[in-house]
Amino acid sequence: MQVVHVKNLSSVREELYTKSFTSELPVPFEELQEIFGLKLRETIQEIESRETKSSAVAYLYSKAKSPEFKKLYNQILLSLRAMLDKDFIYQPNPTFRIQWPGQRAGFFHIDSWVGHGPSTINIWIPLTDLTDTSTVWMANNEDTNALKKQVIESKLKVSEYEKIIADKMYPQVIPLGNFMTFNDNILHGSVKNDDSKPRISFDFRIAMSPYLIGAKKIGIDYVSDIFETEIQSTQRLVAKKCKTIVFSEGKLAHLSHVTQRAIIGDFCNQRNLVPEIEGSEFYTMDHLPQIKEWIDLEQDKKVDDRLPIVIASRECFESDTEIIELCSQNGIKLYDALENLQLC
Ligand SMILES: [Fe+2]
Repeated sequence: MQVVHVKNLSSVREELYTKSFTSELPVPFEELQEIFGLKLRETIQEIESRETKSSAVAYLYSKAKSPEFKKLYNQILLSLRAMLDKDFIYQPNPTFRIQWPGQRAGFFHIDSWVGHGPSTINIWIPLTDLTDTSTVWMANNEDTNALKKQVIESKLKVSEYEKIIADKMYPQVIPLGNFMTFNDNILHGSVKNDDSKPRISFDFRIAMSPYLIGAKKIGIDYVSDIFETEIQSTQRLVAKKCKTIVFSEGKLAHLSHVTQRAIIGDFCNQRNLVPEIEGSEFYTMDHLPQIKEWIDLEQDKKVDDRLPIVIASRECFESDTEIIELCSQNGIKLYDALENLQLC
C-alpha cells in the first residue's frame, strides 16, 4: 500500500476518511527550515546528549511558540481551508515528535483508541528526511477494519495484534516539503528507527462536520479561531457558565486546592462548563459561609439563569446533606466532579 499523491486535496475530500494522501505543503519548506534550523537533527542530538530527551522536545516547542511559526501554521490552516472548501476545526497547537535512533515512536493504533473521533484527519509533516524505518507505517482501510474487529472479539494485546497485521503495514516515505494525511480508519504507527539520527516531525488534526472528536472538546482541544465561521458562535451557545469552589475541610482536606481545581477543571471540560467565578471556602469554618453566600446571590436571577456550582467531591463537606438541600431548594445544580455526578 502506497499513499496517493494529489495536487490538491479538494478532489479527494470525502476520501480523506478512508484513505491516506500526500500533497505539497502550501508554504515553502525553506521557511520551516529557517525557523527550526538547517541542521535540526544535529541540534536535537546535541541537546539530548548534553541535557535530556525532554529538553530536545522542549527546544522544538520553543521554536513553535515563535511568531514566525504561528504565522506559518495559520497559513497552512488557511490554505487547507481553501483547498477543502469546507469548514473545519483544528488543534490549536501542533504536536512535535522525535523518533530517536533504535526506538519506535508509537505502537500501531487507530486514533479513536487514544481518545480521538471518526471526524478527525491527521496532517503529518516531516521536518527531516525519512527512511523506511523512520517514517509512519500504515495499513489500508480494509485491513484496518478487519483488525479492529479482531482486536475486540479476541481481546488481543498490542503485541498479539501487531504480529497479525505486521505484513500488511507499509512505510510511507514522502519527500520533504510534502505533508501526509491519514484518518481514524487507517492503522498507523512506527517501527524501530534504524537510522543513526532522529526523525523529527510535527502533526495536527482537523475535523469537519459533524465534528466527532471523541473525548476531545471543541473550544479547548479543537478551535476555529482563524476562520470567520459559524462553528465558534454555535459552540459559545453550547458552553455553560458555572461557579467552582475548593475546600480545606472535610475528608478530602489532604487534597490541595491545585488538585481539587484539576479535578474540577477536567469535569468542566467534559461537560462544556466554563467557570465564571472560582472561589475557595474559608479555612477553619465548617459552616460554609462562602458557598452559602453564592447560593443566596443566585436568588435574584431567574431559575434557568442560576449558575450551577461544581465542587471536587461531596467528601469536601463534613456533612453534605445541608448544602445539597439548600441548592435543591434554591434551584441550583450542584456537581460532584470526582464522581461525575449531579448531586441535585
Ligand atoms: Fe495516531
